[in-house]
Amino acid sequence: MPNLIILVSVPIFVAVTLQYLYRNFTQDRAWNHIPTHEFEDGDNSRDRYVRDLKDLLESGYRKYSKQGLPFKVKIPIGGYSVRYRVVLPKDHLEEMKHLSNNTFSWALASAVIFAQDFTGAPPRGPWSGKALRVGIHQNLGDITKKLDQQIDMYFGTHLPQNSSMIMSIRFMDFFVPAIANITSSLLVDERLSSNPEWIQQTCDFAVNRYKSADDVRAYPPLLAALVAPLIPSVRQLRKSRRYVKEQMTPLYEDMKMRQNSGILSKEKCRKGAFGFEWLWGGAPDDVTLDDFSDTMMRTLIASIHTTAKTISVALIDLLSQPQYMDELRREAMEATEFDGSIDIEKLFKMDCFLKESQRLTPVFLLTMNRIVTQSYTFKVSGTSMPVGTMTTAATAAIATDPDTFGIDSNCFDGSRFQRLRLSNKAGESALKMGMATEDSLGFGLGSQACPGRFFAVNQIKLMLAKFLTRWELTLEKNGQKWLGGRPKYEYYDFSVVAPAEYGMLLRRREII
Ligand code: HEM
Ligand SMILES: *[C@@H]1O[C@H](CO)[C@@H](O)[C@H](O)[C@H]1NC(C)=O
Ligand SMILES: *[C@@H]1O[C@H](CO)[C@@H](O)[C@H](O)[C@H]1NC(C)=O
Ligand SMILES: *[C@@H]1O[C@H](CO)[C@@H](O)[C@H](O)[C@H]1NC(C)=O
Repeated sequence: MPNLIILVSVPIFVAVTLQYLYRNFTQDRAWNHIPTHEFEDGDNSRDRYVRDLKDLLESGYRKYSKQGLPFKVKIPIGGYSVRYRVVLPKDHLEEMKHLSNNTFSWALASAVIFAQDFTGAPPRGPWSGKALRVGIHQNLGDITKKLDQQIDMYFGTHLPQNSSMIMSIRFMDFFVPAIANITSSLLVDERLSSNPEWIQQTCDFAVNRYKSADDVRAYPPLLAALVAPLIPSVRQLRKSRRYVKEQMTPLYEDMKMRQNSGILSKEKCRKGAFGFEWLWGGAPDDVTLDDFSDTMMRTLIASIHTTAKTISVALIDLLSQPQYMDELRREAMEATEFDGSIDIEKLFKMDCFLKESQRLTPVFLLTMNRIVTQSYTFKVSGTSMPVGTMTTAATAAIATDPDTFGIDSNCFDGSRFQRLRLSNKAGESALKMGMATEDSLGFGLGSQACPGRFFAVNQIKLMLAKFLTRWELTLEKNGQKWLGGRPKYEYYDFSVVAPAEYGMLLRRREII
C-alpha cells in the first residue's frame, strides 16, 4: 500500500514541479526587456528583500525611473504567484491611473498580495470603493462631528481623567481597539458597535488579514496550498468571515426588505448616518449577503490597522522630537471649542507635520499595485507590459526624491510642508494630508485611491489634538522612557512593521 502511494505521488510531484519550473522560465523571458534591479552588494537573500526593500526601491528608482524607465525587482517571498514587481516611473502612473481594472486589475493584485486563495480573505469588489468614497465625501462634516464625540467618549472612559492618575499605554495595543470601536460606531449600526464580541472580532481580523498573508507567504507556492488550512491565523480569519456574515444577516435582510417594499431609496442611503447605508447606496440592486458582508469586513480591515500604524508613527515622530511640541499644542488649544470639540480646519501645522511623517514612513512602500490582464504598451515610454505583469508605484522612493524635496529629502523636517504650502498658495491644497498626487502616493492615486483617506486623516487629527491639549505625554519604549531620538522604522516586505514596543505615559493636564 505505501508503495502504491509513492508510485502515484512521485510522478505527480515531478509533473507539478516541472510545470512550475517551466512557468518560471517562460515568465522570466516575457519580462526580459525590463531591467532587473538587485542589491548592489550581491546579497540578494530572501531575508534581505524582506527587511531592506525600502533601500532597494530607492536605489532602483534613482537609477531607472529618473530616466523614465520601469524596472523590476524580484519577489523572493513564497506564496506569491508572480515573480516580479514592475516599478513604474511617475509619468507611467499618470497614464494608467484612470485605466479600468480590465487592463490594470487592482482586484487581482490584491488577491495575489494577500494570498487570498490561500487565506480565504474577502476579495476586493468592484463597487465598494466608489460607494464609500461618495458616502464619506457627502457626509464628511457629520462624520467629523461624530468622530469627535466618539473619541471624547472613548478617551473619557479609557484614559486618566485627573492629574493624580498616570497611565502607560502601548500604541498598537491602545489604538487597534480604540479605532475598531470608533470606526465601527460610524460604519456599522449601534447594535453591532456596542457588542464587545464584534469589537473583539474586528480587532482580530483587522490584524489577522495581514498576519495570515505573511504566514502563508513564508511557504513556497507549492506548499502554501497544502499548509494554509492548518495555519492558525488562516483558520481564525476564515472563522471571522463566517462571524461577520452571521452578524450582517439581520441588517442585510432589513435593508433588502425595505428596498423591496419601496421605503428605502438609494439616494437616502447615501445620505445616511452609517457606513453600511453608504455602502448600500452604492451597491448593485441585487447585491448578495456574501458580497455585502465581505465588503463590510474588507472596509474594516482596510481602515483599522492602517490608521493605527499611521497615528503610532506620527506620535513617535512627535514625542521623539520635542521641539515641535509647543507649536502643535498651542495650535491644538486654539482649535479647541468651548464644548471640547476640535475645529480641524485650524490644524494647519499638524496637517503639515502629519504629511511629513507619512512622507518618510508610509504604511506601504508600494501602492497602486495592479496586475495587467490585457497586454498594454505605455505611450510615454513604449514599454510593453505582458499579461500577468504586476505593476506598482515606489511610494516611499518618490516621496524622498531629492529633485522634489531637496538635498535633505531623507531628513525629517516638521515645518517642510508649512514652507511649501505658504510659498505656493496656488498649489497649496494639493499638499494637504490626504490629497493623492504623484509625489504623495501614501493613499494611492486616481480613481482607486483610498476611499477612506479623509475619514482616517480627520480621525487621526482629532485624536492627536485631544492628546496634546489634555495630557502631558512622554514617549516610552518597552515601558521605559525613550530618549533615543526619532527611531529607524522597520519594514516587513512592503508594509511598515507596527511599532509595538513604543508607547507613551499620559498625565492629565490641569488647564485646558
Ligand atoms: C492612514 C490610514 C490609511 C491608509 C494609509 C490607507 C491606504 C490605502 C491604500 C494605499 C489603498 C490602495 C489604493 C490603491 O489600490 O491604489 C487603500 C484602499 C482602500 N482603503 Fe484605505 N487607507 C487608510 C485608511 C482607510 C480607512 C479609514 C478606510 C475606511 C473608512 C479605508 C478604506 C479603504 C478601502 C475600502 C480601500 C479599497 C481596497 C480594498 O477594498 O481593500 N482606508 N487604502
Ligand atoms: C473588473 O471589474 C469588473 C466589475 O467592474 C469585474 O466584473 C471584473 O471581474 C474585473 N476584472 C478584473 C480582471 O479584475
Ligand atoms: C466603545 O467605547 C465606548 C466608549 O466610547 C464604550 O462605552 C463601549 O462600551 C465600547 N464598545 C465596546 C463594544 O467595547
Ligand atoms: C482620579 O481618577 C481615578 C480614575 O480615573 C479615580 O479612581 C480617582 O479617585 C481620581 N482621583 C481624584 C483625586 O479625583
